[in-house]
Amino acid sequence: MREGHASRTAEQNALFRALESSRPPHRRICDDPLARHFLSWPFTLVMGIAAIPGGATFVRSYIDRRWPGVRSSVVARTRLIDDLIAAALEEAIEQLVILGAGFDSRAYRLSRLATIDTFEVDHPNTQAAKQEALRNVLPSPPKRVRFVAVDFKHNDLPSAMSEAGYRESKRTLVLWEGVTNYLTAEAVDSTLRWCSTASAGSQLLFTYVHRDILTTPSAFVGTRNLFASLEKAGERFTFGMDPNQVPDYLAGRGFSLELDIGAAEYRARYFGS
Ligand SMILES: C[S@@+](CC[C@H](N)C(=O)[O-])C[C@H]1O[C@@H](n2cnc3c(N)ncnc32)[C@H](O)[C@@H]1O
Repeated sequence: MREGHASRTAEQNALFRALESSRPPHRRICDDPLARHFLSWPFTLVMGIAAIPGGATFVRSYIDRRWPGVRSSVVARTRLIDDLIAAALEEAIEQLVILGAGFDSRAYRLSRLATIDTFEVDHPNTQAAKQEALRNVLPSPPKRVRFVAVDFKHNDLPSAMSEAGYRESKRTLVLWEGVTNYLTAEAVDSTLRWCSTASAGSQLLFTYVHRDILTTPSAFVGTRNLFASLEKAGERFTFGMDPNQVPDYLAGRGFSLELDIGAAEYRARYFGS
């Protein structure tokens, strides 16, 4: 991330959700009415163009041509995770931790979370930008949501979480979406080891990129433009996993893998062919 700035990729994700949420209810895949409130002026301008007749189609196809697959993955992933959270809540989850929350608005928009203690953990710069935006939209943010400012690379997560009131003894759902690919292997490892200390029956939802995108980017469509944009944002991909090794990698850290679903599959699930 650029020194002193909120995460640009977190804001891009909010833009993709805002664009999708502005579609008619029967056509949209996810609905995040708060997303547009997190946008700084250049992206607010994009939303303005999308509001002109024909503008939304133009904006979506421009983004999809320039960064193939990125917008549709974020949109479908938002919906997939909303659905997985709803399923997890059937199992008496007592607290939710959102690691690298960015402009995730689930704590405010999912009514089923209304009684669940939630910890939003993020880099201090991104979190400050989010809290400022939230103050303008939610005059009294819910007290059940606590903000924990942490840099995963400095491994101060355990003490920051217990100071914030997180309890290991409670059944926990941890969400870590769109973050591991920006971290070091050590930071991913130590964060996962902290997650594994949660009470039995807890669940973790996280995303990773295929390790080969780091070593042979040319094998993946659209990587050149994507990497150039990430470079500008100071948010390079630094960590990936081989899907074949994920079950063992997780088992070595105290987890058992229930589901590993790739972008092509979840995109098809919500967008169709
Ligand atoms: C691509 S955004 C994802 C945001 C959100 N989870 C989503 O899916 O829209 C990456 C997030 O990771 C956070 N992040 C990146 N590096 C971090 C670090 N070293 N420590 C804490 N948070 C970090 C950024 O602040 C940002 O919120």
